[in-house]
Amino acid sequence: MTIDVERARRETPGCARVVHFNNAGAALPPAAVTDAVVDHLRLEEHIGGYEAAEAAEAEVGNAYTAIARLLGCAPHEVAVVENATRGWDMAFYAFDFRPGDRILTIRTEYASNVIALLQVAARTGAVIEVLETDEYGLPDLGDLARELERGAALVAVTHVPTHSGLVNPAAEIGALARAAGVPYLLDACQSVGQLPVDVAAIGCDMLSATGRKFLRGPRGTGFLYVSDRLVERLVPPFLDLHAATWTAPDAYEIRPDARRFETWETNYAGKIGLGVAVDYALGWGLDAIEVRVTALAEGLRSQLREVPGVTVRDEGTRRCGIVTFTVDGVPAAEVRRRLGAAGINTSVSPMEYARFDLAARGLPDLVRASVHYYNTEDELDRLTAVLRQ
Ligand SMILES: Cc1ncc(COP(=O)(O)O)c(C=O)c1O
Repeated sequence: MTIDVERARRETPGCARVVHFNNAGAALPPAAVTDAVVDHLRLEEHIGGYEAAEAAEAEVGNAYTAIARLLGCAPHEVAVVENATRGWDMAFYAFDFRPGDRILTIRTEYASNVIALLQVAARTGAVIEVLETDEYGLPDLGDLARELERGAALVAVTHVPTHSGLVNPAAEIGALARAAGVPYLLDACQSVGQLPVDVAAIGCDMLSATGRKFLRGPRGTGFLYVSDRLVERLVPPFLDLHAATWTAPDAYEIRPDARRFETWETNYAGKIGLGVAVDYALGWGLDAIEVRVTALAEGLRSQLREVPGVTVRDEGTRRCGIVTFTVDGVPAAEVRRRLGAAGINTSVSPMEYARFDLAARGLPDLVRASVHYYNTEDELDRLTAVLRQ
């Protein structure tokens, strides 16, 4: 199946206004998503917020069933939260780490996750082990096997890094973690929506993602998958009357499902819009999306390699829609500014977003041009033309 790019662009009002290569930041939403959000806000305006939530029960419930279809899990294994970080944190901070517990992670891990690892390690005496990296910038699976044999409390890995076009071998890591009986937390924030992500095939126990990036959902939405295998062993760091029930003056019971990681108050319009965005992605098909996104990104890399002074920085063996590069003698922020002045949206990945990796590679920052299926070959040409200037 191929993507009907014309239709995708017609259904995306932003395509007429900007050349958007900041899909790894926040993709342009389709009109259907914005309409769903605005319609619900209007309903709240007209009949009241609680009453609107009740009237839209089916649309709200759809967010869970759609995400479950996307990930290949059950709806009750999904919590809808404010963003990927909050989802990841709710799972991570639910672990009761003890001194000496080993947490295995990788060089391309995302900054917020590493900050949380550092905080918890300092508090509990847990130890962070960063796996060795092979010549492609990928975690060395032999090293992972050895580290798992020594015993570990958690494997925490980012599927697609914020600052690189590589795709980490999530399923291979999952197979090793499952065989060793070690819980596996996958940050799929940048992979969900641009390539198929199936929790059973990957073998992760927990997975976090966001709405606004490749899924094209509303800002301020995200979700956490927690497998039935693990959920009742994880006590959320915060509880409220949605996550738990106050059953006696001195007692409460925590919900048995993933929604123990949610709070009572939530952005209903965002949740509804997120469900619409997931359905929309499923409508195109994640296999078809990956084929189109990967082809565009490879095309862009080839063009960039021809531009004097430009160096493509993506590593890995399987690559995705994130394209990173540097321009000799021009800071990434300046490249981004000049592209922006020409109506082309890109972003910058500074050292602080991925310090383990960028420091090891001696790169202070990168320009990130992230494509989506609605981008065109023409737009790739426009980006390279501005860089040539
Ligand atoms: C790999 C990765 N993980 C997590 C996040 C955080 O997502 P959010 O801003 O939705 O919390 C990002 C955001 O850029 C990311 O790139």
